[in-house]
Parts: sequence; C-alpha cells; structure tokens
Amino acid sequence: MPDAKPNTIYLKDYRIPDYLVDNTHLQFELKPKATLVKSQLKIRRNPAAGVGLPPLLLDGVDLELLSIAIDSMPLSSEDYEEIPQGISISVDKPEFHLEIQNRINPEGNTSLEGLYLSNGMYCTQCEAEGFRKITFYPDRPDIMSKFTTTIVASKNYSVLLSNGNEIDRGLCKDESQYVTWEDPFAKPAYLFALVAGDLKCLDDYFTTTSGRKVKLQIFTEEKNIYKCDHALRSLKNAMRWDEEVYGREYDLDTFMVVAVDHFNMGAMENKGLNIFNSACVLASPETATDAGFQRIESIIGHEYFHNWSGNRVTLRDWFQLSLKEGFTVFRDAEFSADLNSRAVKRIEDVSLLRINQFAEDAGPMAHPVRPDSYMEISNFYTLTVYEKGSEVVRMIHTLLGPEGFRKGSDLYFERHDGCAVTCEDFVTAMEDANQVKLVQFRRWYSQAGTPKLNVTDYFDEKRGIYRLTVRQSCPPTPGQKEKHPFHIPLKLGLLDKGGNDLILDGTGSTQCVLEVTESEQSFEFTGFENKPLPSLLRGFSAPVKIDYPYSVEQLLFLMSKDTDTFNRWNASQRLAFMALSDLQQAYRKGGTLQLQPGLIKAYKRVLLNRDLDPALVAEILQLPSEQSIAEESACIDAEAIVVARKFALQTLAEALSGELRARYIALNVRKPYSINAKDIAERKLKNTCLLYLCVTETADSLALAQAQFDIASNMTDKAAALNALINHAGDRQANAAIEQFYRRWKEDAQVVELWLGQQSRSCRRGSLKTVEKLIQHPAFDLKNPNRVRAVIGGFTKGNFSQFHMSDGSGFEFLAEQVIALDKLNPQIAAQQVIPLTRWKRYTGDLAPKMKIALKKIMDSGNLSGDIYEVVSKSLSE
Ligand code: TRP
Ligand code: ZN
Repeated sequence: MPDAKPNTIYLKDYRIPDYLVDNTHLQFELKPKATLVKSQLKIRRNPAAGVGLPPLLLDGVDLELLSIAIDSMPLSSEDYEEIPQGISISVDKPEFHLEIQNRINPEGNTSLEGLYLSNGMYCTQCEAEGFRKITFYPDRPDIMSKFTTTIVASKNYSVLLSNGNEIDRGLCKDESQYVTWEDPFAKPAYLFALVAGDLKCLDDYFTTTSGRKVKLQIFTEEKNIYKCDHALRSLKNAMRWDEEVYGREYDLDTFMVVAVDHFNMGAMENKGLNIFNSACVLASPETATDAGFQRIESIIGHEYFHNWSGNRVTLRDWFQLSLKEGFTVFRDAEFSADLNSRAVKRIEDVSLLRINQFAEDAGPMAHPVRPDSYMEISNFYTLTVYEKGSEVVRMIHTLLGPEGFRKGSDLYFERHDGCAVTCEDFVTAMEDANQVKLVQFRRWYSQAGTPKLNVTDYFDEKRGIYRLTVRQSCPPTPGQKEKHPFHIPLKLGLLDKGGNDLILDGTGSTQCVLEVTESEQSFEFTGFENKPLPSLLRGFSAPVKIDYPYSVEQLLFLMSKDTDTFNRWNASQRLAFMALSDLQQAYRKGGTLQLQPGLIKAYKRVLLNRDLDPALVAEILQLPSEQSIAEESACIDAEAIVVARKFALQTLAEALSGELRARYIALNVRKPYSINAKDIAERKLKNTCLLYLCVTETADSLALAQAQFDIASNMTDKAAALNALINHAGDRQANAAIEQFYRRWKEDAQVVELWLGQQSRSCRRGSLKTVEKLIQHPAFDLKNPNRVRAVIGGFTKGNFSQFHMSDGSGFEFLAEQVIALDKLNPQIAAQQVIPLTRWKRYTGDLAPKMKIALKKIMDSGNLSGDIYEVVSKSLSE
C-alpha cells in the first residue's frame, strides 16, 4: 500500500483557480545531482474566483525548498506551510511577485517525469503533472503563463534549448554559459520543456502559406544525424497538410524536435520544442522497418498537429484529455490516410481499437472518453481516451460531412484560441457552426463500454420493401450499471446478387448513414426486386460491435464483391473468427480438427488476385492474432485459442504453399529501397508470404528466409527474415541468425530493441527461460522504457501462448518485474501490469493464477499511486 491511499479526484469538484500566473521566469543552473531552480512568478488574484485572499497553493514533489520571497521580502516559516501536495502560502495582497529557489536531482530521477538525464543529456517531461517535480507551481492546465527560461550550464553542452525564441546568450563569470529563451504564447506548465546536451542538428526551413519562413531543426547525437531525414520530410508534409485541410499555420519562428533514448511514451508536443522517444523519430532504410517509418510519420504529424489542437487551444483540466488527444489522433490518422493507403490505415487502426480498446472497455479500468474520476492521471493516457476519442471525433465528421466539420473546427479554434477549454466546448462549436444539436451524441463522452448492435432484416417481396431492424445495448462498466442509447452513425450499402451497390433513395446514392438513436429502431428501403445483402458499418463508422447473421457464403461474397474495402477485409475477419471458433470447439470436445474449406478457397482467391492492393492482400491473409481471437470470445480459453490458431495457420500454409511461393518469388525482385506506398505494400505482402511459407518448416522455405536474411540491405526485409528464422528454423540456424544480427547491430539502440522484441514475442523461442535470459543480457536495462517494452511487454502482450502457460509462471514473472519497475518508474510499471488485470475473462486455472499474481503485487508494500490504482481496481471488482 502507498504511504497513504491516493485520493480520488472528481470532475464534478472542478473549481476555477484562485490565482493566475501572468509571467513565469525560470533559471536553471544545471548540475547532474543538484540542479538549482530559481522561479519568479508574477501572480494575481483571479477576479472571477470571488472575494478575499485565500492561501496560494503550489504543487511540488521531490523538491528541496531553499527560499521563498514575496516582492523581494523573504518569507519566514510562519508565512507558509508544507502540505501533502506541495506548499500553501498566506497572501495579503491581490498582486505580487513570488520568488522561489529549490534544488532537484536529475541524475537520481528514474521516473522520467520532470527534469532527468538520458545518456548524459538533460531533458524534461512535464505532461501531465511533471512540472511540479521541477519547481513549486500551480501545476494545472488552466493556468496559462508567458514563460522565459534561462539555462546556465557547463560549456560541454553544445545545445541549450527551451520553448519559443532564443533572445540572449553569453558567458558567465565562472566560464559556464547561459542561453535565454522566450515563448511569446501563454501556456500551461505541462508544455514547458528544456533540453541540454552535446547534440547536432539537421536543419531546414518551411515557408508557410502566408509567406513566413520557419526554421526546422531536428536534434540528436551526432552519430544519429543520418537518421533524421524521414522525420524532417514528415514534418514538412504535416505542416503543409494542416494548412490545406484545417487552414492552420505554424506560429513561431522555429520548430525544434529532440530525440531522447529514455522516454515513457512516444513523444511530447511541448510548445516549439517537441521531445521524441528516439524510436519514434530516428530511421534509416538499413535500421528501420517500413512500419517504423510510417509510425514516425504519424507521430511527427500528431505532435505537430497538437500545436493547434492542444497548445493554442488547451485543456481546462485533465478530465478533458481526449479534447486534445482524441482530436489529434483523428487528425494524424487522416494525415496518414491522405499520404498512404487510406484503407490499410483504417484496417490497422480498427484492429488496434478492437483488440486493445474493446478489452479496456470490458475490463476493470473501463472509463468514458471523458473520465469522471481518477486517482493518478497518468493511468488515463489510454486507448479509450486516444483511440476511442478519435472515433468519437470521426463520428462527428461523418455526421456533419467534411465541410460541416471544417466549419466546426474553424469556429472552435477562433472561439477558444489562447484558452483552456472542455470537450463540451468542442461539441458546441461543431453544433453552432452547423446549426445542429448533438445532445444525445454527448453520451459518447460520458458513458463507458462498447455498444453492441444486433441487426436483423426482413424483405417484403410483394411490395419490394427491405426493412432493417437495429437493436442497441451496452454492457455495464464499473460505476455505470445502466446505459442510455447512443447516437450511432451506421454507414451502409445494399448489394444485389451481382455484388453491385443498389440505389437507396431518390437522390441516387448507393450509400447512406443511418442515425441509430433508440434501443430498437427500424429503417425501410424500397423498390427492390430481390432481397439485398447489407454491407453494414462501412469504414467502421462507429466504435461498436455489430452482429448480423451472415452465412459463410454471404461473407465469402462480401469478401470478394463489397465496394467498401474496409468491409471486404472485415468479412474475411468474420470468416476467420468463425473458422477459429469451430476449431476451438472441436478441440474442447476432443474431436478431430478441420479447417473450414471455404476459408482456404477464399484465401487462395485473394492470394491469386493481382488487382487487389498487395497491402490489403497481406492484411486479409494474416490470421487474426491470438489476442484478437481472445477479445472476440466471451470466455478466454487460452489453450484452445493457441491450438486452433496454430492448426489453422499450418493448414493454410500447407494448402497454399504453391501460391505463396509463386507470389513470394514474383515480389522478391531486387530493386533499390524506396519508401512509397506501392513498394511498402509489395514488401508487406512478400514478407507475409515468407512467414507463411516458413510455417511449414520445410528446408526449402527456410532456405528462402536464410537467403533473404543474408542479402537484405533494408531492415524491413532483414527483420522479416530474422523473424521467420526465429519462429520456425531449427535451433542452430535460428541462433546463428540471432547472434549474427546482434554482432552487426549492437551499437544501434533502435535495432537492438527490435531484436529483443522479436525474441520475446517468438512462440517458439520466446519461452519464459529465454526472456529471463534476455533480462540478464547487457542490452537490457530496467531503467530504459523501450527495452522494458521490447522484452517484458513483448512477452506479456505479444507472446500469447508462452505468457499464458498453464502453470502460471508467466504471471508470476510479470508480477516480479512490475514490483521492481514500480520502484524505478511507476508509469512504466502501470503500463506493463495491464495484461494481468483482465483475469476475470479467463477460463480454468488461469483466472485464479492471474489474481494471485496481482495480490502479490498488492502485498509487496510501498506501491506508487499509479500501480495502486490499477491493481486495486482490478482486484476489487
Ligand atoms: N501528449 C503526449 C502525446 O501526444 C503524451 C505524452 C508524452 C505523455 N509523454 C508523456 C503522457 C508522459 C503522460 C506521460 O501523445
Ligand atoms: Zn497527443
């Protein structure tokens, strides 16, 4: 238990701040173990907050307070009081200058919040509540202040950065140097950033539509400068895109990005000075995979887009987190869709949502897109807030259309520029700009859980009327037993016998969006000769589960004929789930396993289809992962899932080996590596075929993998071949590849992480023993989140069969790691514990064994608030 059980904070308790901070001047004297922070704040009573002069509350965590003065008068110990969250200062005037000095220890900071050191470089992470680990401050997003920052440091640091523009630099008396930065835009403390290091930068510029020239800089260690080109190109694309699609220009003279190796998340949108996990910014063809390149493009876009959706318009309080994250994920998803294959991007995003967000929504940590309470806000940087939040914004886009949505976003930015606002303000702007009401729609922000749609239909042959009946329901979630109906945009088309889209109304349109608002509702379409086949929830128009009693034949038909690419893929998924569920059942009954022949035929047809986008072929061919099969099942029978999937994979690999081989060979042409949609798609299909072929474990197929491993000059092909060998080759061959790869790449942090992850995720070689060995490997470091995510996360989230071993050893292992991690980095510990929290859904012995592991964590003593919240909520349900 933490020293004191952390408090629960409620949205309904929100109060506007008593005091405002107009200006913040910070001075840092950087020393690894004892950095001196001087803060000068211009403070004023908030006129909107009432009368009287209540005490001034400042947040502060792990700070050594040296002095406090008001208007240059030092305070005595009677004038202030230390309180659990920081200090409380008595105030006797409505306006004053507050001056505080405190000391912090960046080197000892392993939580990676506040100011810390990463490979000798100083950097900060202040979102959500990290600024209070730098100095005493009203650390809440509705306090917006103009910052200036002076950094004093030894001359060994070639680069001293903070937000905004550099306004002064020089030498100090003692041979150290200083640089002063000024950020002209008022901002909340969570957007503050500081970087000091011996760094080099890749420079460029961008000219905005209105003709302003913006300097662009990507900073990293000298040895990584060659890996910055893709990020820079992506940044320029993002800047152009936001001008074209949202009419938003960048607003400072420079935009800086810094890569750091130790980082809790992907990246951070600090004003004018984005800080990135190096894995999310550095890439070269020899060291990064295509997926890595695409991830960089989307994260660079995401953080850049925050400059408007997050920074210029920020949050009133942390309950509104999805206001910036949901909207910005939607923006980055559309950016990636516009630059690459829209259908494939959608398939990837929906898969993530269905596998991980649906599980969150069905588990003990389920919460609405706008939560109404939390203990530790870091635990709410979730798939629900980000990905479901983005789906909610997408539904508004679907309901209003692109022009209506743009009118709404223009009004939102115009009304709230420079302000700290709420999700409510966003929806209101959308309504006002379009003269519509979205009253019921707001339930998407307040109700948790994944709604379920049951669809049935009826055809009146005599009158040619086709009637769809939709019933909606939503399961209870913690604290929310009863749910009210949602407002659900249900996009659909109706297919005739030939697979053509039928005309749905007088306007001639072949697709429509039904607005489902009641628990049960019917919709009629007229003028048909035969009963049409519905293609429902096209493009995944709402984050719901949908059930319509399709037959195997109908799914096969949709898979080859639907004009909606997303639904073609979706039909293939349904088909695979049906087949896998049959296999699970047969296994449980002790019968012989047989794979649905329709599935094999359908896969063959897709594989032979040269007109389909190869990336889509690859998506269809990949069987749903064990995790996604688990998410489809009400009760998770881990063993049956593993057996069923393995059997299906092997059957398909054998039945299709001729076609797989032919397609592999046709795609395996030598040509220079280039990162464009067509080549990425072809590599993706080629490597999907290779992995399938190797499932048969024939000498032939493994020779193909070995040859590709030996000659590949780009990491996409190299890593795919390594993966095939790790998972399917004999020990000697696999180990040789593993060692050879490490010898070649051991100096490259990003490649080493890929190498660690592949081994931990391997169903064959990633046994618990291997993972325990990897943890002892010199490349592993419990203080480095990327290494933790690769090895521990790779095993627990990416190696379903080994993690769910029936003896519970995987769970015990995770409990021990979480206990050790919690002492170093509570945020990472809380990220890693998630797989244990879904214990209730498992059948047999697994549920009690997972619960024992959770209890072990609970009883280990001295838990962080982060872990306490997640573990106690998982156990208490
Ligand atoms: N705002 C960041 C984003 O856009 C999230 C983030 C980065 C973060 N670092 C963090 C959140 C540390 C909590 C803690 O994705
Ligand atoms: Zn974000």
